[in-house]
Amino acid sequence: MFTLPEVREQKDLKNEILKLKLEKNAVILAHYYQEPEIQDLADFIGDSLELSRKAKDTDADMIVFCGVHFMAECAKILNPSKKVLIPDPEAGCSLADSCPAPLFKEFIENYPGHTVISYINCSAAVKALSDIIVTSSNAEKIVNQLPADEKIIFAPDRNLGRFIMKKTGRDMVLWEGTCIVHETFSLRKILDLKASHPGAKLIAHPECEAPVLSAADYIGSTSALLKYVQSDLNDSYIVATEPGIMYQMEKAVPHKTLIAAPPEKDNCNCNNCPYMKLNSLEKLYDCLLNEEYEIHMDEKLIAGALTPLERMLEMSR
Ligand code: 13P
Ligand code: SF4
Repeated sequence: MFTLPEVREQKDLKNEILKLKLEKNAVILAHYYQEPEIQDLADFIGDSLELSRKAKDTDADMIVFCGVHFMAECAKILNPSKKVLIPDPEAGCSLADSCPAPLFKEFIENYPGHTVISYINCSAAVKALSDIIVTSSNAEKIVNQLPADEKIIFAPDRNLGRFIMKKTGRDMVLWEGTCIVHETFSLRKILDLKASHPGAKLIAHPECEAPVLSAADYIGSTSALLKYVQSDLNDSYIVATEPGIMYQMEKAVPHKTLIAAPPEKDNCNCNNCPYMKLNSLEKLYDCLLNEEYEIHMDEKLIAGALTPLERMLEMSR
């Protein structure tokens, strides 16, 4: 086995990662927002819902989660006997951070009799306080299955919450969290782009702010956006989500024009998720070699967070 500097010299990082993966019977799961070289090495690439399903069903001994912490935590909750690793333990999520469990507990107590629906982008402690978990792929479907008079709290993403309220016609009490990446897109610049690319459709993730969503031709999760550019007949799109997804889009529809929606601030990189982009090939190699950083959770927390996650999987079949 090589140390990281030796491997760098051999310029063979990718092969060494694949070798370690085989030796350790590990599976590499990657979110669409990962760097292209990580997506290329992954056994499976997907959105939050698809990755949760894969994590639950894998028979590998080790799950290496190239995504952010709440995603790796979900893998551990759904498959607790496996060793779950994340290449960078600092890969968090602004949405999850916007909803600390003690404050959320107090918030819920102010609304007795409400069903608590939490977006999967939250900590395990917040999941354990929730009745049902949803992702951007299944939130509408799940909310529609609840009785019309059911009172609902939706957390932590207010933009997804408002979007689901509009789609379902339901009133929900919202936690005011946002994603620092999806709130960055500039409607003004998007409209300028539309003017210079007449005919380009705006497609957006539901975490975007309401004015961007109002202007969108299609709204969906990362996987839904990828499927849309493949099935839709248009030939150009402005894509309002983290640009990591563009890698798979460009592969799937190389003949189409795909433009990343611009952030409000000039010359900033703020439409790239700073947490997702903490993972790198070097860290992935170290992660497999040293079997770190492992997700450790106590059994009580796993049990508390598992119930609403399983409910999600049942209701989104
Ligand atoms: P998806 O469920 O679309 O993968 O979204 C996850 C996410 O973190 C978006 O910012
Ligand atoms: Fe969290 Fe936003 Fe990054 Fe998604 S893009 S992981 S919601 S900070």
